[in-house]
Amino acid sequence: MSTPTSGGASVLVASNRGPISFSVTDAGQLVADRGGGGLVSGLSAVTRHGETLWVCAALSDADRRATANAPRGRLDHHGYDTGGIDVRMLNIDTQTFKRAYNGIANSTLWFIHHHLYDTPNKPHFDGRWRRDWEGYRSYDEAFARALAEEAAPEATAIVQDYHLTLTPRMLREKRPDLRIGHFSHTPWAAVDYFRMLPDDIAREVLLGVLGADHVGFLSPRWAGSFLECCAEFVGGRVDPGAMTVEVDGHVTNVGVHPLGIDADFLRERAAQPDVEARRSALLELAGDRKILLRIDRTELSKNIVRGLAAYRELLRTRPEWKGRVTHFSFSYPSRHDLPEYREYTAAVQRIAAEIEDEFGTDDWTPLHLSVNDDFARSLAAYRIADVLVVNPIRDGMNLVAKEGPVLSERGLALVLSREAGAATDLADDALLVNPFDVSATAEAMHTALSMSSEERTARARGLAASSTALPPSQWFADQIDALRA
Ligand code: G6P
Repeated sequence: MSTPTSGGASVLVASNRGPISFSVTDAGQLVADRGGGGLVSGLSAVTRHGETLWVCAALSDADRRATANAPRGRLDHHGYDTGGIDVRMLNIDTQTFKRAYNGIANSTLWFIHHHLYDTPNKPHFDGRWRRDWEGYRSYDEAFARALAEEAAPEATAIVQDYHLTLTPRMLREKRPDLRIGHFSHTPWAAVDYFRMLPDDIAREVLLGVLGADHVGFLSPRWAGSFLECCAEFVGGRVDPGAMTVEVDGHVTNVGVHPLGIDADFLRERAAQPDVEARRSALLELAGDRKILLRIDRTELSKNIVRGLAAYRELLRTRPEWKGRVTHFSFSYPSRHDLPEYREYTAAVQRIAAEIEDEFGTDDWTPLHLSVNDDFARSLAAYRIADVLVVNPIRDGMNLVAKEGPVLSERGLALVLSREAGAATDLADDALLVNPFDVSATAEAMHTALSMSSEERTARARGLAASSTALPPSQWFADQIDALRA
């Protein structure tokens, strides 16, 4: 058990990826950049200097260099621009980090929660995988140690995501005085899928999370699956009505906290000159054609290939759209250390080339695919899109579906997968689709493109209202309240 730190932080958050990342310039200088992804955008909005300490991992060699220069990894104490956030970045040795991040978090737990395995071939839980699991344990332990060191007596610590499922329990053992939360930004696997994990591991994951006093999810579906997994794998008492799990006298409350958009930040950022310039450039490319947009990390769960296949089917079955629509697909890079991701990126590029070959003419480019990251361009595209396609196989929430309507200038029809957490919040005004049904997705694209601008405008208004109903500040405050109740 650790000793409480009297001058420590009273609120702590822990996540693998932190609010900043570093890169090295040609001149060898370290520069800090804003981190990406749904989790980081949500938390950055609420973790202000002096209120919250953010514990995260060094993800790259440049991050490691930055932490090596900062005593105890406290970047905020060392003059780095952390965007006004107190940050401790953990320098976990590279091999342990890779085993935990690539081997377990991204190749196992991400695949389990998003139902992504090609089951005749994978998963394959063998001796090598067990070594990765050991790495994951040490990595989660490093977070628990750092939180235990940094927390003031009776502080509140909220641990984020599948990278850190074992940390809550480890932290409770070191600091029983803390109030501990865990929040999943992903779906939670359905019980029949979760059962693929070796039994001892399934139990360890659940008991790890249950070390928290409060466990949060983005949608009632994911919370329900978690409770079902607990009922199957953990002894103790699971009460699905009260949403509690009791193990060895410790009660964990399970809550649903859907994350919405920080509309003020988004609108202000989208009005900047770099966004204006990109807006003009995109309008020039589209001319007077309808704009169909998708924006994703190039991530297997995002279902980009089926989305593009649906666009191809639309052009085949509804030839009236040929020459009258421009599809922008911004698919920015993700997790390129994993072969599955590199292959998926190639598959996206392949189908894009096929679409161009089949339909492209001298004066019409049916699809503009970009595989680089450009936040300003994404904001510009939201402003002018007529239709936004968000068709993940499974997604914790999906903030793209919520950002688009908030910035829309000419009304936006949203084609949305019913398997995204956002579908719960946006069902009234979106066109919901089964993400595996390519033909139905093509038909939904047709319906969306055919909508009058009045209808698109009315729908965008409804979608924007639902998307901003629970801004990040509220989302975070609700979790703190739930923990302190
Ligand atoms: C998305 C998910 C988060 C997750 C993050 C990790 O943003 O919504 O749940 O933590 O991806 O991505 P990374 O790039 O850090 O592997």
